[in-house]
Amino acid sequence: MPKVIFVASDQTRREIEISGGWSLMEGAVQNDVTEIVAECGGGCACATCHVFIEPAWLDKLPEQTPSEKDLLDCTAVPRQSNSRLSCQIKLTPEMDGMVVHLPQRQT
Ligand code: FES
Repeated sequence: MPKVIFVASDQTRREIEISGGWSLMEGAVQNDVTEIVAECGGGCACATCHVFIEPAWLDKLPEQTPSEKDLLDCTAVPRQSNSRLSCQIKLTPEMDGMVVHLPQRQT
């Protein structure tokens, strides 16, 4: 199972193992990462699952869909070049050890 390191805005770190095939959002919610709100349940419609991916890991991620790109304009904390919606990232073995920074707020 890929292990993901979530880093909160106060720099608190949590390592969480997430089953392959789950989305990053699903793994976070299942493990009480409360900084991920996921209001729409993964439907790419709410932008409350916003995360910042440590740049070294960006090339391991799937391409952004046009709807993810559009929705990243609606995040509570402004998007950055490493912003992604965590519901759009399915975990793969290549993501083991990935570092994911959490925004200060989602709404
Ligand atoms: S959970 Fe709503 S956009 Fe990701």
